[in-house]
Amino acid sequence: MEEHVRQEPYDRQLECPADGPGKTDRLLLAMIRYDAGDARRIQHLTKVYEYAGLMGRMERLKKEDQEILEAAAIVHDIGIHRSEEKYGRNTGRYQEIEGPPEAEKLLASQGWPETVIQRVSYLVGHHHTYTDIDGMDYQLLVEADFLVNLFEEGALPETREDVFRRIFRTESGKYLFQQIFSQKTE
Ligand SMILES: [Fe+2]
Repeated sequence: MEEHVRQEPYDRQLECPADGPGKTDRLLLAMIRYDAGDARRIQHLTKVYEYAGLMGRMERLKKEDQEILEAAAIVHDIGIHRSEEKYGRNTGRYQEIEGPPEAEKLLASQGWPETVIQRVSYLVGHHHTYTDIDGMDYQLLVEADFLVNLFEEGALPETREDVFRRIFRTESGKYLFQQIFSQKTE
């Protein structure tokens, strides 16, 4: 089974025009293969990618920024496995150290432009740092990760509210947070 998963290069069989959305699909497939067998991480990154992409479209990001945001969302936790191997745990800080080189390797292997690789690498290296957020791509990635983590980690309502006040800044993020976590009273 393991062998079957690793030997089927589905991403190479997809239609992936050089300048089309296919390259994001190809990156997603490569990342799923990178995390093969770790269903929890694959579910996590898929949700963060989907929310981040939706939020970028809601915020009408420019095409290049949307592309960077989606690529960063796909690979944002790529440092987890190496952190666990090297340090026996995967704190946010270790992930921020181990993630960028891995992300750069994966994107470079798929021919992504250097400018995109550099920004994605920066975002991977800072996605647990909530000061000096220097762009919508960064802000949306952080918010999308929280939308997923608050649920996956079973955060208490008061923790969610605290995160909402401290972190959420975008209209799309606030809207989704309220839709996902609000209590319907009627
Ligand atoms: Fe994450």
